[in-house]
Amino acid sequence: MYSLGIESTADDFSVGIVSSDGEVLANIIDAYKSESGGIHPREAARHHADVAGKVIQRAFIEAGVTPKDIDIIAFSQGPGLGPCLRTGATAARALASYLNVPLVGVNHCVAHIEIGKLINRAEDPVTLYVSGGNTIVSAFEAGRYRIFGETLDIAVGNCLDVFAREAGLKMEEGKPPGRIVEEYASRGERYISLPYLVKGMDLSFSGLLTAAINLLREGRYKLEDVCFSFQEVAFSMLAEVTERALAHTEKTEVLLTGGVAANKRLQEMIRLIAEEHNARFCKVPKEYALDNGAMIAWTGILSYKCNITTPISKSYVKLKWRLDEVDVPWVEGEC
Ligand code: ATP
Ligand code: FE2
Repeated sequence: MYSLGIESTADDFSVGIVSSDGEVLANIIDAYKSESGGIHPREAARHHADVAGKVIQRAFIEAGVTPKDIDIIAFSQGPGLGPCLRTGATAARALASYLNVPLVGVNHCVAHIEIGKLINRAEDPVTLYVSGGNTIVSAFEAGRYRIFGETLDIAVGNCLDVFAREAGLKMEEGKPPGRIVEEYASRGERYISLPYLVKGMDLSFSGLLTAAINLLREGRYKLEDVCFSFQEVAFSMLAEVTERALAHTEKTEVLLTGGVAANKRLQEMIRLIAEEHNARFCKVPKEYALDNGAMIAWTGILSYKCNITTPISKSYVKLKWRLDEVDVPWVEGEC
């Protein structure tokens, strides 16, 4: 059985084709790039509409399958930006009705976890999902991926991106802002104290962002040292919450995913806490950690095997669809 998955929650339009035994046959990602560096939802949606046909076609060519071979169409139904989600959903509905196959609406956050598990052959991890729009520590318990901790304001990736912009870091084509911060940080030596904000199991990054920008404006410190300190604080906060979730759940795997997961310093910190708790550290290669269609296609298969499909009448997008609202019956092998 083959599933075609469409991902369009934010600035990427991606199509993946995955088989029911977990082989990824295609995973084509086309990123929208804005001139300002931020995302304008309607412009991103226009990009998605413009490239959709071409990306779908490329996915078929890469996978070596024809539209007739596809058994289900999966799409990311939320959470995300309305115009972007709607563009992907429209393409998915059109394909499903044209091919006369079932449609499966997938939660984007669930999909990040499932593809990470598939790639690492992980069974039951604590997951730290860190990206431009999300910061979530979760683990499976009683039928769902429960949220142990999350951001109370902005996502850590967004925090890094805004900081990079405000700091005027020199951007390079093809490098995300967080990567540029990482490069500066690797040359930093001196730790400067910045606000560390963990409330219970939740995190707050806006105070850190403001303080770091103010620090730069003071002009007393080297840019490299501010980047270094900024990363140390932000990632220690993430590591603390992940470690507490791990200690509480006593799981034996830790999965790190999302765009920010590419950061070597963050990987090092999470690897350390995993080792301290005798848990296996599971890293996700970039093409499957960023927003991608393969994760949607794969989660579509898992859902479909549990008889979860989405009739067209219920295929409206859900902008604020939380991870812990979704039943994931396949996790305990019920289907
Ligand atoms: P989502 O819809 O999941 O929130 P997104 O499109 O906002 O997705 P991703 O594509 O998963 O996010 O990740 C982008 C984020 O990852 C950006 O904030 C970017 O700066 C950050 N990032 C990428 N590489 C690195 C790195 N090496 N270090 C830190 N952050 C990074
Ligand atoms: Fe994502």
